[in-house]
Amino acid sequence: MKVYTKQQLALRNGQDKPEIWIAYQGVIYDVTHSKMWRNGKHYEHWAGQDLTEELVDAPHNNQVFKKFTAIGQLG
Ligand code: HEM
Repeated sequence: MKVYTKQQLALRNGQDKPEIWIAYQGVIYDVTHSKMWRNGKHYEHWAGQDLTEELVDAPHNNQVFKKFTAIGQLG
């Protein structure tokens, strides 16, 4: 898998570039087409970063990543 830096991930926050990416346990997922991540925002969470620690606050588990393609790894 392609490795991206924190800075590259940060630009895919739904504001600076057309792609919207989020990282979970070091794996980057493309959520550009998700209605739930429109403009990079999901409830009080922003895309463009590793949200591993934030998942504990969610009413769902990591099964939500299943339908998304892992597009890279956070280096
Ligand atoms: C207060 C925190 C959060 C709330 C209230 C919340 C709520 C929800 C709800 C209601 C859904 C759709 C139903 C479901 O799949 O269960 C969803 C989907 C999803 N959530 Fe969260 N979530 C939160 C935090 C997070 C965090 C921190 C992440 C990432 C680590 C995340 C990633 C996702 C993803 C990838 C989906 C699937 C989106 C789709 O299917 O288009 N959520 N969330």
